[in-house]
Amino acid sequence: MPSFPIAAVRAQFPALARQVNGRPAVFFDGPAGSQVPRSVAEAVAGYMLEHNANHGGLFATSVESDAMLLEAQRAAADFVGASDPAEIVFGANMTTLTFAFSRALAQTWKPGDEIIVTALDHDANVTPWTVAAREKGVEVRRVRFDPEDCTLDVADLESKLSKKTRLVAAACASNAVGSLTPVKRIAELAHAAGAEVFFDAVHYAPHGMTDVSNWGADYCVCSAYKFFGPHVGILWGRHERLDALLPYKVRPSADVSPDRWMTGTPNFEGIAGARAAIAYVAGLGEGGDRRARLRSAFARISEYERELSRHLLAKLAALPDIRILGITDAARLNERVPTVSFVHRRHEAGAIAEHLAARGIFVWNGNMYALSLSEALGLEPHGMVRVGLLHYNTPEEIDRLIEALKELR
Ligand SMILES: Cc1ncc(COP(=O)(O)O)c(C=O)c1O
Repeated sequence: MPSFPIAAVRAQFPALARQVNGRPAVFFDGPAGSQVPRSVAEAVAGYMLEHNANHGGLFATSVESDAMLLEAQRAAADFVGASDPAEIVFGANMTTLTFAFSRALAQTWKPGDEIIVTALDHDANVTPWTVAAREKGVEVRRVRFDPEDCTLDVADLESKLSKKTRLVAAACASNAVGSLTPVKRIAELAHAAGAEVFFDAVHYAPHGMTDVSNWGADYCVCSAYKFFGPHVGILWGRHERLDALLPYKVRPSADVSPDRWMTGTPNFEGIAGARAAIAYVAGLGEGGDRRARLRSAFARISEYERELSRHLLAKLAALPDIRILGITDAARLNERVPTVSFVHRRHEAGAIAEHLAARGIFVWNGNMYALSLSEALGLEPHGMVRVGLLHYNTPEEIDRLIEALKELR
C-alpha cells in the first residue's frame, strides 16, 4: 500500500467513528453519498449562524453571502477545470439541474434530429434527455456496453453518430460497476459529427480530476454530496452556450450567466459547504494554486484507491458463488474507479446487504438507478450489491467485508 495519510484523513470525518454492535461502522455507501469532513459541516453551520441572507441586498450579510457564492463558483471552476467562474451553476442536485437544462437545450432541437444516451448511465443522464426528445420529436439512440467487462462500446457510439446527432449524453464513470469511459474520445467523436457532449461526472468526481477543458466537454454535471460536501448539484457549461440558450426563469431574476440558470433562491449554506469540500480535497494535495493542489490530491487519491480496488477484487474473486460485474483484471485498474458490484449465485442482493448491515457494513443493493445496465445484465428486479470505496476506506474494512461474506450460508 503506498503511503497515504489514511489516519489523518479518517480523523477529519467524525461519522467514521460510528459504532454498530460495538464495532466501527464500515461506510461502503459512498457512491450514494459520501461522509463529510468536520470542516464542511462547520462551513455550513458558519454560513447559517453568521452570514445567512438572500442575495442582492445592500447590507452586510447579503454582501457576504454574495461574496461567498462568487468564491464557491471560483472553487467549483477550479474543481471541474474551467477558467470562468461564471460558467458554474449551483442547483438542488444533478437530476434537477439536468431536467431543467435538458428542456432549455431541447428548444434548439427539431423533429428529425437525434440524440445519443448510453446503457451504462445512471437514469438521471438518460430520462431527462429522452423526455425532452419525445416532446420535440427527436429520436433517441442508445449506446451499448460490453456485458463482459461493462465498458462502453465506443464502436457502437461511432456507428450511431451522424450529421443528425445533436447531443451525446454520457457518464465519465459508471455508478453501478465503476467503469471509466473514454471522455476525450467521446467528445472528439461527438464534435466531429457536429454534436454537443454532456458529461455526467457525478460518480467520477470524488475519484479523479474532472477536466472539462481538456476533455473537450460542452456541459458537465457533478454533485457535491458525492465528493464530501452537502446536497448541492453543480452544472458547468461553456459560457457562450449558457448565454445563448434560454433558461426557464422568472422575469425579475437576473438574466446574466450563471444567475439566469439558478432558479429561485440558492441553497447558500450547501454552497458554502461545497466550497469547503473542494478546500478539503485540495488540502490533500500540494501546489502553488488550488487547481494544482486538486490535481496533486487526486493523483494521491487515485493511487491509494487503486490499491483498495486491487485488494477488494482479489479477495472477492477468491470467494465461491460470487460474480463480480465489470473490470476485474488487475492490469486494468486504471480503467475503473473503486466501485465494485457483484451478485451471488444463491442469495439475492437485498439479503446480502441486510446480512452486512447487521454486521455494521453499509453497502447498497438494487440497480443504483443504472436501470438500463441492470436490465441489460438481466439483474432486475433484485439488482446487485455495490461496495463503493472512497479514499477514507481501508484494506482492513475490506477484510471485514470478506469475513462477513464468508459467513453467508
Ligand atoms: C452517476 C450518477 N449520475 C447522476 C446521479 C444523480 O445525482 P443527484 O442525486 O445529484 O441528482 C447519481 C446519483 O447517484 C449518479 O451516481
